[in-house]
Amino acid sequence: MNIATARMTARRTTFGTTPAGTQASLFELEEPGVLKARITDYGGAIVGLETPDREGRLADVVQGFDSLDGYLDPENPYMGAIVGRFANRIAGGRFRLGSREVELATNNGPNSLHGGERGFSHTVWRSEIVETDDSVGVVLRHRSEDGDEGYPGALDCTVSYQLRAGGGLLIESEATCDATTVVNLTFHAYFNLEGHAAGSVLDHRLRICAERFTPLDETQIPMGSLIAVAETPFDFRRSKRLGRDIDADDEQIQRGSGFDHNWVVDGWNVGESVLRQAARLEAPESGRVLELSTTEPGLQVYTANFLDGTLRGKGGQSYARRSSVCLEPQHFPDSPNQPQFPPTVLEPGDVYRQRTLYRFSVAP
Ligand code: GLA
Repeated sequence: MNIATARMTARRTTFGTTPAGTQASLFELEEPGVLKARITDYGGAIVGLETPDREGRLADVVQGFDSLDGYLDPENPYMGAIVGRFANRIAGGRFRLGSREVELATNNGPNSLHGGERGFSHTVWRSEIVETDDSVGVVLRHRSEDGDEGYPGALDCTVSYQLRAGGGLLIESEATCDATTVVNLTFHAYFNLEGHAAGSVLDHRLRICAERFTPLDETQIPMGSLIAVAETPFDFRRSKRLGRDIDADDEQIQRGSGFDHNWVVDGWNVGESVLRQAARLEAPESGRVLELSTTEPGLQVYTANFLDGTLRGKGGQSYARRSSVCLEPQHFPDSPNQPQFPPTVLEPGDVYRQRTLYRFSVAP
């Protein structure tokens, strides 16, 4: 173990019991004064992330709940969770896979959203603490059976959260299947870098390393094209206040009720597994910075447009509309119906892999 990791710790406590009688755990991964992550094996949700501001004052920068009950609530909007088997929307809950017509439950208007009624965010994963020479972490495993939520083939998933010295949280995912299927995992943390209870996120500055995005139809399904962000509200190539164009008079903004779109990460190539910088989020008051790098071709940016203050989060805090922002690395929504998008089909014998790194620091 090197000097930095020698100070890092990992421990498990109990988090509660599901109605089915399964025990859920809470893991605390810590590099003192730099980053403390709290993660539950229920949906693999990131429950808390404490990082220092310019003055060294720690704050918890993700929204969530104090107890398992909040995560079990059917109104829980995927707070901090792993999303799967397929992130975001699949049009009409249907797609063709070879000669087969796959039919999923629809749980978002006419569409299937985030894996269906009981996706990967709504189950207890098997879990163990793993410490290596340069990280402490928790490894989560979940088997989704053949036919789960309508998806063909059993899928075995492993997601590991690792604390890296100096403020990094690395998430590595793998999946294998026993019959042809589709897979698209993402992570649904709601960030407010001023603190989870700080209110509006609209003064945060965001940069997205993307020249194009995938415009939506009226039901929030990609129309199929990739459109240049230049001269649109979606241009975040240079750091911009999140609130600047969020209510612009623009059809795409209206369809997302703000930002709720997939950006096309610059430089991505099929078959490569390079960590590319996709986004940089900065909070002006505290100076906290989050840099996101990923192997994924897409980044969904969702400005919590559907939160409405009714949800009681940590410390009884009510989470208002646009009080946080999700940065969700992913393949493009509805890819199974859009052959021109990077493929999401997984064949037996192949391995799905994703790596995503969240790195926290402070701006000078
Ligand atoms: C994603 C979607 C949003 C919304 C949230 C969860 O980010 O794109 O439209 O469904 O998840 O509430």
